[in-house]
Amino acid sequence: MTAEGTLSMPTAPRVLIVGGGGREHAIAWKLAQSPHRPRLWMAPGNAGMAALCERAEVTADDPGALARWAATEGMDLVVVGPEQPLADGLVDACLAAGVRAFGPTQAAAQLETSKAFAKYLMQHAGVPTAPFEVHEDAEAALDAVRRLGAPIVVKADGLAAGKGVIVAETVEEAEAAVRRLMVERRFGDAGARVVLERKLQGTELSQMFFVDAETVVAMPPARDHKRLLDGDRGPNTGGMGAFAPVEAAVEAGIPAQVEATIVRPTLRALREEGIIYRGVLYAGLMITADGPQVIEFNVRFGDPETQAILPLLRTDLLEVMWAVTDDQLAHLPVAWHSGAAACVVAAAEGYPDKPRTGHPIEVPGGTADSAAASEPIIFHAGTALRDGRLVTAGGRVLATAGTGDTLAQALSVAYETMRKVHFEGMHYRTDIGSTTGL
Ligand code: AMP
Ligand code: GLY
Repeated sequence: MTAEGTLSMPTAPRVLIVGGGGREHAIAWKLAQSPHRPRLWMAPGNAGMAALCERAEVTADDPGALARWAATEGMDLVVVGPEQPLADGLVDACLAAGVRAFGPTQAAAQLETSKAFAKYLMQHAGVPTAPFEVHEDAEAALDAVRRLGAPIVVKADGLAAGKGVIVAETVEEAEAAVRRLMVERRFGDAGARVVLERKLQGTELSQMFFVDAETVVAMPPARDHKRLLDGDRGPNTGGMGAFAPVEAAVEAGIPAQVEATIVRPTLRALREEGIIYRGVLYAGLMITADGPQVIEFNVRFGDPETQAILPLLRTDLLEVMWAVTDDQLAHLPVAWHSGAAACVVAAAEGYPDKPRTGHPIEVPGGTADSAAASEPIIFHAGTALRDGRLVTAGGRVLATAGTGDTLAQALSVAYETMRKVHFEGMHYRTDIGSTTGL
């Protein structure tokens, strides 16, 4: 299927991108390269996206209002980046308003929004994942922690902005985690239920798929660097950099294995519940001695993996998204560039606890504000324009990305661009891409 083929896409389609992180800037950058010449809007977006997108004059956290805006403004497609609007039912609201939307429905998003839901579904489907228990009562959970012993992983059932998982090395640590989640309700209702699970041993891998009602298409396997400091030291963050493909995983046939043993059984189990999944499905994996096991599902593109994966996508992203929403993915050959891509995140001083903001940012020419792939690629995240000046406005400020025939070349491009970025208190890891094994 090509643009002239069976895709029923209008010319110059109007596309709204929901979200405002590096992932959404990467999506906007890729969509801007589409030969269909889409007109792009953002809600809320960021300062980098503003060069590619018009601002949607609507709040991003009210699904009803956003869907009405999209219908009134004649949006042909709404692309949802982050998990929260998916959890809030934005895709359902858009579909009800007659607007095409890329992303899973609220029911399908439960794979990410409820870890207990995901674990029970995996258990039912025979998908490899750590043995677990679900608890709704704090005393019962504390008893279970003492019975199961350490190490043990304690997880808030609901969304907790990536902070609801505690890998406890001792029983005391696990007890404290249960109290924080269930008694103090540090993450509100997300901690009303907890999942306790066995700690898995191995190396982590991010494997994403495009999914429609019938077809599953694997993206290149990627690796995210979650710790703040070089050598995987320091606190966990939203991700300090990523690269793709992880060659060792490709050589071991991991994408096909994950599709067969994890993704297809999970989609089948959802279908048995009357739920059809469409969008991106992200399997967070531990590659163990017994093969890949699921750590978590995300129901959207990973951040920052997307900033390293979309530069490798050869097929028009708009056509891929359109095909997914039409269940036509089977007829669209999705192709990838050979070689590798990497991205490096620049974080603000004080990140992840208390990032300092408001510092002016100096960037080299080209901020992914043009669609030309030959320019330095800078994906904005926590940036804003104040009195016409680019300033820091979040913990992860921006990411530089690079592509090349080899991972080493991709990294050198990304780091070369990063050396031209300056802001007060700036911090980035210098060892992205150095852990390439399984
Ligand atoms: P999650 O938010 O579920 O991705 O968990 C955050 C991080 O906790 C993961 O990236 C892993 O590093 C770690 N983690 C979660 N579950 C497990 C597990 N069962 N065994 C080992 N590490 C885990
Ligand atoms: N990179 C992990 C995530 O997107 O949740």
